[in-house]
Amino acid sequence: MKQQVINVINSQIKAEEESSRLYFAMGNWCETQGYPGCASYLYQHADEERLHMVKLVHYLSERGAHALTQALAQPQNNWDTIQDVFKEVLKHEEYVTQLINNLFEVCMVEKDYMTSNFLQWYIQEQIEEEATARSVLDKLQLASTSQGGIFHFDKDMEALAKQAIAAKLQ
Ligand code: FEO
Repeated sequence: MKQQVINVINSQIKAEEESSRLYFAMGNWCETQGYPGCASYLYQHADEERLHMVKLVHYLSERGAHALTQALAQPQNNWDTIQDVFKEVLKHEEYVTQLINNLFEVCMVEKDYMTSNFLQWYIQEQIEEEATARSVLDKLQLASTSQGGIFHFDKDMEALAKQAIAAKLQ
């Protein structure tokens, strides 16, 4: 593999692990603020991000390259409101999409078609993750306008977390 491609995949490995830690910190904040459903959803999302990281690590190994276990940034630990948490989830997913696009572009420039093909999974995943983050934010904004709305939103997030876990087990 070309060194340039290995380098950008290693950067993505770090970004996915940092995403996992960010969502873990958000889940923990939700747990301390009385949003157990949101906490379950974000913990589950943190697990998914870790799997995104591991998949890249194994890909490098399969291609005879070495994935690096790297120092990670300290994630944010506090937010003012639950709305701020989910606004940041969407912003973060848009940022990750940009990283995946850049990674794909490097593969095209370096003519690494095997890696571009492998990255299709991540491109599809980003479409789904951004769509989910937008729909969760829309629901939350709607819930914020009615009494008891946030309570029901939190219950819905618990159901969403269970659905995602069940889908993984299939
Ligand atoms: Fe691995 Fe949510 O991007």
